[in-house]
Amino acid sequence: MDIFDKCYNSEIVQLAKSLMKNGLYPYFKTFESGQDPEVTVDGKKLIMMGSNNYLGLTSDWRLKASAIRAVQKYGVGCVGSRFLNGTLDIHVKLEEEIAEFIGKEKALLFSTGMQTNFGIISALVGRNEYIILDEYDHASIYDGCRLSFGKMIKFKHNDMDDLERVLKSIGYEKAKLIIVDGVFSMEGDIANLPEIVKLAKKYNSRVMVDDAHGLGVMGKGGRGTCDHFGLTDEVDIIMGTFSKSLASIGGFVAADEDVIFYLKHLSRILIFTASPSPSNVASVRSALKVIKAHPGRIKRLWKNTKKMKDGLRTLGFDTGKSATPIIPVIIGEDEKAFQMCKILYEYGIFATPIVSPATPPGRALMRVSVMATHTDEQLDKVLEAFEIAGRELGVIDTNRPWIKKRRFNYNVFDMKQLRNWMGKLWR
Ligand SMILES: Cc1ncc(COP(=O)(O)O)c(C=O)c1O
Repeated sequence: MDIFDKCYNSEIVQLAKSLMKNGLYPYFKTFESGQDPEVTVDGKKLIMMGSNNYLGLTSDWRLKASAIRAVQKYGVGCVGSRFLNGTLDIHVKLEEEIAEFIGKEKALLFSTGMQTNFGIISALVGRNEYIILDEYDHASIYDGCRLSFGKMIKFKHNDMDDLERVLKSIGYEKAKLIIVDGVFSMEGDIANLPEIVKLAKKYNSRVMVDDAHGLGVMGKGGRGTCDHFGLTDEVDIIMGTFSKSLASIGGFVAADEDVIFYLKHLSRILIFTASPSPSNVASVRSALKVIKAHPGRIKRLWKNTKKMKDGLRTLGFDTGKSATPIIPVIIGEDEKAFQMCKILYEYGIFATPIVSPATPPGRALMRVSVMATHTDEQLDKVLEAFEIAGRELGVIDTNRPWIKKRRFNYNVFDMKQLRNWMGKLWR
């Protein structure tokens, strides 16, 4: 046996190589531009429908100017942990601003959102304590649980009966923490927080919400999913990332002062890593200011979301239970999602296929995410491309006279046939 055997033989490696061989590999695309509504990949201009840049702030001049000023003042890195030499005055200011924005007593910064989940869960949940997860929670929550000594139990996605079953089975006395995504990252649906909070009270559990995708999108002025439900006080811990609406990198946890003080002194993930760089921190502070001063940006995001969702549904696509700018377009089999991605790419659209095991088998999807800065013209082009691709792959079945229905019996990985067909399509 060789420890490297898996590098040669694993199923994922084989699939990735087969996709590459057939020109269907959609991952690690190299961008030659910023993450704007229009991006450049391999010299080709594409409409970006696969980013988390919901508010379109990554190229905003105010954020850029703040980052540049921070580099001039503090240099390019902190070369140390928050615990020792790596705490700048702007880290502390951002923590105060985040706590105020979210509506909690205190906040604490981490270097990424993933590390935030690792850092909270591993420090907080000990032996003989329980973590209760929605099965669709983000991977960083699962991995955070693996780093803790607690016992992890899953409940069925957003199924409150199943959550109650799990809580009952653990019992009232045991220490426990329910952790859910506020907005689920793959299908854009929202956690049933009112019921979760009720059940938590009934069974003596604490609640934590990962609001990576709710921040800047949901609630009053983008204050997130807990604010949307008016439950900021009832949810014990709110975490978020800076890598989505806030257009940078880093993460935070917001909670009561005692919890933050504890995490500050016991979270190994905080203590044994370098602190977020000055330019990141400064750009996040600037993003918060822009969000507060220009609420119209969030309105535009929702207007674009409605246009895209209505358009896809009218075309006959299944967009699941999405209630946010993350719109899953359900395709079915994994292979079809890869084909869809390729066709959209050829048509000038960047969107990401999500396949099993990230989705249940047979529920592969294209994850479409809308930005406040998309134009109507761009969204119309995206809808047109989805219509063509959806019809050709048999995902939707509309009969428009201007595209004759063709039946191409092509092999899933036969790119020559696919290109041939694409060529005919564009003529
Ligand atoms: C729900 C959720 N939580 C946490 C993370 C991790 O955030 P980051 O990319 O900032 O590490 C992500 C990232 O995709 C996410 O979707």
